Amino acid sequence: MPTLPTNLLDQLQTALQNAIDHELPEPNTMTVASCGSDGRLSARTVLIKHIDEQGVVFYTNLNSNKGRQLQQNPRIAACILWRELQQQILLEGVVTAVSDADADAYFATRPRISQLGAWASQQSSTLGSRAELEQALQHYTEKFAGVEVPRPQHWSGFCIQPDMIEFWQGREFRLHDRSRWELDADSGTWQSRLLYP
Ligand SMILES: Cc1cc2nc3c(=O)[nH]c(=O)nc-3n(C[C@H](O)[C@H](O)[C@H](O)COP(=O)(O)O)c2cc1C
Repeated sequence: MPTLPTNLLDQLQTALQNAIDHELPEPNTMTVASCGSDGRLSARTVLIKHIDEQGVVFYTNLNSNKGRQLQQNPRIAACILWRELQQQILLEGVVTAVSDADADAYFATRPRISQLGAWASQQSSTLGSRAELEQALQHYTEKFAGVEVPRPQHWSGFCIQPDMIEFWQGREFRLHDRSRWELDADSGTWQSRLLYP
């Protein structure tokens, strides 16, 4: 997948920075939808942790429902909503795995309790009781006492490499602006067009 052209990357980064500057609650949340080999769609919220010319990165448990689906089928759709700014950004594309080095570097910045939580949580598996989770957390707290918590192999990031990006700006009387960019697979170039609201 070609890297994002500078103008699109700038537009994405500027929009996120603008949402942060407006001190919106959780400005880096996005909804991501994935679909495993059984054809069943699922969507959930994750946090954008990084945007660069490769795409948009979020971190998760690779054994979770989304983790398994994305390993079966790398196609993903994402929706970022900044309601207060009347802005929405849609992304479609494929995910690639974040490198171990990048995942290690990000994991090391997380609060220790979150690092331990990544070990304790078998995300998306059945949990018998809250006590079971607390026991697992206690187990890993003792296991890693006095040492740095290493990143579990099952915890890493996905980078969404978009082939479609749509910028939506709300306007009066529902005459919104929609500007859609699509990657032409043959030429590797991005084309833009406006869409009716
Ligand atoms: C505001 C918010 C941020 C979240 N951020 C993440 C995240 O970055 N990574 C993650 O794995 N789950 C995150 N979650 C939890 C997911 O929405 C979801 O419950 C979890 O990842 C399991 O999803 P799955 O069973 O579809 O794999 C977040 C939830 C909320 C409400």
